[in-house]
This record gives sequence, structure tokens and C-alpha cells, in this order.
Amino acid sequence: MKATATSHPNIALIKYWGKRNRALNLPAVPSLSITLAPFETRTTVSWGEDADRFEINGQVASGDAANRIGAFLDLVDPKRPPVHLESTNNFPTAAGLASSSSAFAALALAANAAAGHSRSLAELSILARQGSGSACRSLWGGWVTWAAGQAEDGSDSHGTPLAPVDHWNLKVIVALVSGEKKAISSRAGMLHTEATSPLYPGWVTSAEADIEEAIAAVKSRDLERLGTAMEHSTMKMHGTMLSANPPVRYLKAGSMAVLDAVESLRAQGVPAWATMDAGPNVKVLTTAESAEQVEKAIQEIVQTTHILHIGGDARLVS
Ligand code: PMV
Repeated sequence: MKATATSHPNIALIKYWGKRNRALNLPAVPSLSITLAPFETRTTVSWGEDADRFEINGQVASGDAANRIGAFLDLVDPKRPPVHLESTNNFPTAAGLASSSSAFAALALAANAAAGHSRSLAELSILARQGSGSACRSLWGGWVTWAAGQAEDGSDSHGTPLAPVDHWNLKVIVALVSGEKKAISSRAGMLHTEATSPLYPGWVTSAEADIEEAIAAVKSRDLERLGTAMEHSTMKMHGTMLSANPPVRYLKAGSMAVLDAVESLRAQGVPAWATMDAGPNVKVLTTAESAEQVEKAIQEIVQTTHILHIGGDARLVS
């Protein structure tokens, strides 16, 4: 059978960094994200071919990338037949947003349907989580939480919708500081941080308070409260990475320059708060009214920017 699914990437406002179980990709901390459009991954899976063939953005995958997809399809069905996959992003790979979140959410949805299985959304989220942690939040549009959970098998650690796409019309401006592939993958960076940062235990124990604060801010649509919680989670995550030995440093001089610009926008009364993930690019959260002004200020520092809005659910299109 053949199935096609689409999914938007997401960015975390309250961050996932560190695992309580490596094999199952279970997080040590809870996280909260927003799903971002118009960026989108579209994936078609054809189940029951004569050999595996995975094509990403028009190029046949090989090596690690192919192995990662093959291993993921084995989770969908351990007795699977060979599969053809075609996946395309409508956004540049070097857009400054992790595309693995939308990639594994779309793949989970399409592969499950092509295999003729009927997993629930929570089960699909658990599946997507094993491809890439952040992907478990991309099954839903709008505002999504991901619980760390306690179950050994990870059955209580999946995405849960917090508020729908039309709950709050915020925008995210992506500032592309660098389009280069990152030197340290999030997987390797997390392991190293857990193993060597003396600040890591504090990162884990303080996460619950951050997510409670952010959930309250989302529910009451209080942008200053949400932006402050997001920046705190971001800086604490990067501080924990920087205190690893040797340090895990994703931020560049250009990231700092964008942070300065965001601070001066705020000093002028413009609502803008910044976040960065496992890379140097900065994403700025702001209101629909201020989006263009924020983008203009950032364009004085970086050449490439994107204005994104909150996107909808991952879905099967055929
Ligand atoms: O989904 P992964 O394994 O690539 O990890 C993502 C980690 C961060 O992007 C830094 C934070 C997050 O919660 O998305």
C-alpha cells in the first residue's frame, strides 16, 4: 500500500535536552513547543517493493541517513517488506530549523498507514519520538507538550496538544546566522552534556517549574511571561551545554548580535523574545503586529530571515 503524509516542524519554547533512556529516546525533562507553518515535510511511503529505496529532497539516501530510516521502519513493523520512501521539504535544509521533527512525524504517519496499521495519535507520537525526540511534538498543530513520563517502556512519554492553532496568533522570525551543518549532533551533544556537565542535575530538577510557568503563560496569553520563561529555559540549556567538558557550544558571534538586537527592541517597547536550539540560528517570538518591525531589525544583522506562523496538525493526504 501507498500513503502520503505532511507535517510541520516545531520549535521548543521549553527545551528538551538530556535523556532518561537512550534506547527509547525518553527525555529527562518535559518540554513545550509550537508547530510552525508554512514550512512543511511531505512524505510518501510505498510498502511492499522489491528493495528499500529512500529519496530525500530528490537524492537517494545512503550510509547513516538510510540506516536511520531503515531502523525506524523496522519499528513500524519488524517483519516489514522492502519500502520506497520519497520525502521533500518545502523549506531549505539550511533554513535554520531542525527538519528532523517534521521528517519523523510525517514518516510515522505515512508508514503506519502504508503498512495498514491503525495506531492512535499518542502511539504515532511514541513511534516518532524514537526517530527524533522533538518529532513526537509535530503530530499536532498549535501548542504541544511532551511529558518526560515515568514508565520504563516510555508509554507515558509522548506529545499532548495543549492549545489549538488558533489559540494565539504569534509569529516566529527565524534569523539564519549560519546554514552550515552543525559539528555536534543533538544526540551526541546531549550524551556528552549528561556525562560531563556539573550543572546537568540542576537543569533536570528545575525543568518542571519552567514548564508550569510556560503553560500558565500560554493559557492566559501572556507573551511577556511566556517569552521570559522561554529565554530562561533557552539560556539554562545553553549554559548547561557550555559547562560540559569540553564544552558543547552551538552559539556564534552572530547569535549574540541577534540577541543584542532583540534586547534593544524590547527596550523600545517591542514585544520580542529569542530562543536557540542545537545550532547558532535564533528564532524570535513576537506578535503578528510587530513581526515586520522585528524582521527589519534582524535583517540589519543577518541576510536571511523567515516569518513563520503557528501551523496545524500533521495529516494523511492520501
Ligand atoms: O529531537 P532531537 O533529538 O534533535 O533534539 C532536539 C533538541 C532541541 O531542539 C535542542 C530542543 C527541543 O526540545 O527541540
